[in-house]
Amino acid sequence: MFTKRRGKIAAVLAICLPVLVAGMAAPSNADSGRYLLEVTANTSAERTQIAQLGVDVLGATKLTTISVVADKAQYRALQATGLPLKYVGDFEQQLKSLGKVDFKDPQPGQVGTQDFPSGYAGYHNFAEMTAELQQTVRDHPTLASLRSIGKSYQNRDIWALKVSDNVATDESEPEVIFTCNQHAREHLTVEQCLQIIKRYTDNYATPAIKNLVDTREVWFIPMVNPDGVEYDIATGSFRGWRKNRQGNGTDLNRNWGFKWGCCGGSSGSTTSDTYRGTAAFSAPETNVIKNFVNSRVVGGVQQIKTNIDFHSFSELVLWPFGYTTANTAPGLDATEERAFRTLGQQMAATNGYTPEQASDLYITDGSIDDWMWGQHKIWSYTFEMYPSSGGLNGFYPRDTVIAAQTSRNDRAVDLFVGYSDCVKRVINVSC
Ligand code: ARG
Ligand code: ZN
Repeated sequence: MFTKRRGKIAAVLAICLPVLVAGMAAPSNADSGRYLLEVTANTSAERTQIAQLGVDVLGATKLTTISVVADKAQYRALQATGLPLKYVGDFEQQLKSLGKVDFKDPQPGQVGTQDFPSGYAGYHNFAEMTAELQQTVRDHPTLASLRSIGKSYQNRDIWALKVSDNVATDESEPEVIFTCNQHAREHLTVEQCLQIIKRYTDNYATPAIKNLVDTREVWFIPMVNPDGVEYDIATGSFRGWRKNRQGNGTDLNRNWGFKWGCCGGSSGSTTSDTYRGTAAFSAPETNVIKNFVNSRVVGGVQQIKTNIDFHSFSELVLWPFGYTTANTAPGLDATEERAFRTLGQQMAATNGYTPEQASDLYITDGSIDDWMWGQHKIWSYTFEMYPSSGGLNGFYPRDTVIAAQTSRNDRAVDLFVGYSDCVKRVINVSC
C-alpha cells in the first residue's frame, strides 16, 4: 500500500526536479564547488569508508546507493575508492530548484524571510512550533504541560512538552521521550513529534490512546536544533544545513558522551558535516537534553525507559550500537539485542521501513541512541523517515506528504509506547 503511494510521490518529485534526471554534465568551473553524487556502496564497511572521507552523507538504502555532497577534493577521493560513482548535479543548483527564492545570504544586519518557501507552508518554523505547543497546553491543560529545559547556542528555548493524565503530577509511570530534529534540514521530523502530540491529546477519548496516556508519561522535544532550523530557512530558500550554529556547526548526533569520537564514526574537522565538537556535550543543545535526561533519575532509578529519535530520510528503524558492527558488546547482551531487534522488526512491519542495527548503515560515534542505551539503559531507536531514497530533495518533501508520512508511524509509535513499561516483554522475558 505504501509502495504504491510512494511511487506516485516519487514520480511527481522527479518531474518537479529536473536536476535529478540522469545524464548531468560533470563538474564545470562555473559550479559552486560542492557536488551531489551517488555512490554504490553495498556494505556497512564501504559506507563507513565513504563517510570517513568527510562527505555529507544525505541518505542511504541498504543495498543500493548513497547520496552524498562532496567538495572537489572529496570528489577525487571518492573516485579513488573505485566504487561506482555518479555525478548528479551541483549542490546549490539543486537547492535553488527546491526553493522559490535565489540562494543568497541576507545582508549583514538583515534577516531573510525567516520562513519556508511556498509549497512548504505546512511545516512549522520555530515560532510556529512554539505557538502550537502553547496552544496544545491551553486546549488540554490536564493532559499537556510545557517547559523550556534550556537554551540553544543562539539562546532559543529548547521546549519539552509532557503528555500524561494528571500531567502536573510526577506519577510513578514509565516515561518515554521522543526527540525530533537534531538535524536542521530534517524538517519532517518536527511534524512527526507534533503529530504524535496532537494524536495523544486531541484523540485522548479514544480508548486505546487513553490507555497509553493514562499509564505513561510521554515527553517530546520537537525541535532539538532550533538554530539550525532557522538558519536552514532564513533566506527563503533551503540551505541543506544539518548541524547546530556554534562556530562552523557541530553535528549534534555525533556530540553525545558515550564513546564520543571513539571509532571513526565522526569527524574532528570543524567544517565536516559530521563534526563531533570539541568535547562530548560541547553543544549546548545536547548538553541541555543530557541534563534533562539525567534529572529523570529519581531515587536512583531512571524514569525514562524508551526513546525514539526521529531523522529523515531512508525509511529505517535502527537500534544500538552505532559505534561497533558487533551485534552485542559490553552493556548490550544477547537477550537485550534480541529484544531490540524484535521490537524494531515489529515496528518496521507496521510502517514498511527497513529494520537493522545502526552500524549496518555506517559506523557512527557520539550518537544519541548509543548514549541513551550505553549510559542509561533507555531503549533507544532511531527512525529515518520518508523518503526511502533521494538527493537533497529527500530532506524537502512538499508539505502535502506530512499527513500521510507522519500517520504512517501511528501503529509503530503506539506499539513502542505500549512496550515502554518493559521492552523485553516483546520476547517474553520479564523485567
Ligand atoms: N542519519 C543519521 C546520522 O548520520 C543516521 C545515524 C545512524 N546511526 C545511529 N547511531 N543512529 O546521524
Ligand atoms: Zn538526521
